Amino acid sequence: MAGDYIITGGRPLNGTVWVPAAKNSVLPLLAASLLCSGPVRLCGVPELADVAESLALLRSAGCTAERQGADVRVDGVPGSGTLAAGPAGRMRASILFCAPLLARLGRAQTVLPGGCRIGARPIDLHLAGLVQMGACPQLEGERLLLTAPAGLHGADITLRFPSVGATETLLLAAALAQGETTLRGAAREPEISDLAEFLNRCGGRIEGAGTSTLRIEGRRGLSGCDFSPLPDRIFASTLACAAAAAGGRVELTGCPPALYAPVLEILEQMGCTVERGADRAEVARFGRLYGAGRVFTGVYPGLATDAAPLLAAAMLCAEGESSIEDVVFERRFGCAEGFERLGGRVNRSGRVLSVGPLPESGLHGATLTAPDLRGGAALVVAALSARGKSLVEETRHIDRGYAGLCEVLAS
Ligand code: UD1
Repeated sequence: MAGDYIITGGRPLNGTVWVPAAKNSVLPLLAASLLCSGPVRLCGVPELADVAESLALLRSAGCTAERQGADVRVDGVPGSGTLAAGPAGRMRASILFCAPLLARLGRAQTVLPGGCRIGARPIDLHLAGLVQMGACPQLEGERLLLTAPAGLHGADITLRFPSVGATETLLLAAALAQGETTLRGAAREPEISDLAEFLNRCGGRIEGAGTSTLRIEGRRGLSGCDFSPLPDRIFASTLACAAAAAGGRVELTGCPPALYAPVLEILEQMGCTVERGADRAEVARFGRLYGAGRVFTGVYPGLATDAAPLLAAAMLCAEGESSIEDVVFERRFGCAEGFERLGGRVNRSGRVLSVGPLPESGLHGATLTAPDLRGGAALVVAALSARGKSLVEETRHIDRGYAGLCEVLAS
């Protein structure tokens, strides 16, 4: 893991790739397994650094959590409300493990979550909702202690922004809280629906997933279940953008194209051909790539913020100009410096990245540093279209969310 990537660019991509389960679904599902009295099996979980960190968090809480082939199995009642500081501090999703511990043990202790440095990532919405449900947070430096001396109870909560993480935290807390919770202004991302479906399969009562109002009837206990997490729309977006940047034809199977429709539509506008099936898409580019004009990210079903740097990498290879604005995170385009090293024309101004047109001499290989997970993957995508060799360093960021990205691209 975490070796440098050496990429010889300038060759088209051709092949079929199976889209693995979504990191952003697997991590909340692993947190949710802390709520379950019976064993949980998540089927087909990719070998990601963030999954390994999550298993370490579960073990620190006293559960058995292990890989069994392609699956992950979690069992056992959490005995400790204290999460291991190492993995908790390295990953944003560690905050999701607090609500289940709080619901089951009345206590959760962690350190403030780490993760990609793509802008301010407060947890005020998580905490404010938990307070409404009866929790008392105490923050001392990096250490966060949450207690619920009288247990958690249902509440009527309105989020000022449809935060994915806060919606997941409050869904997890409400699943075992006493009484009913209404969560308004909730995130509508498919990963929320996946989590709600899992909880319902375990005996939970959640309605409205996929809409902005969730109603959750708290249960006294939840069982476990076997569950296949939904496919990774950001992985699929990465390969689609790679096909656009490098040229060639890439078939993505096992993932409904509707999950990443905005990316596919923008690539079509840029001159790619996209063929869609029920759970497959084929992205091809043999001719020129045109500029995309101005595009924005948004909450689902808008263009995913995680896909923004990947699309920007495809835009770098276009003959016209494009600009892309991320409305969710302030520093989404840490990859801009790497794009410049490859010879690309970029200009970052606040949340907007202006890209292109491609210089006549094209892009050339360079030594690049992955700034964060998606920014790192974006540099890989851009390097695929650059003449000569590129070296990508700090690939530990990329390993957090992609299993064997190099091998997949090489194949
Ligand atoms: C999740 C995803 C991440 C994706 C993001 C947005 C996981 C593990 N990560 O991150 O890949 O980029 O959704 O789709 O699923 N905010 C607050 N207060 C809070 C929480 C969030 O102000 O308490 C703000 C953030 O600063 C940010 C925005 O809300 O500007 C979106 O954050 P959020 O949706 O919570 O993202 P994450 O759950 O961290």
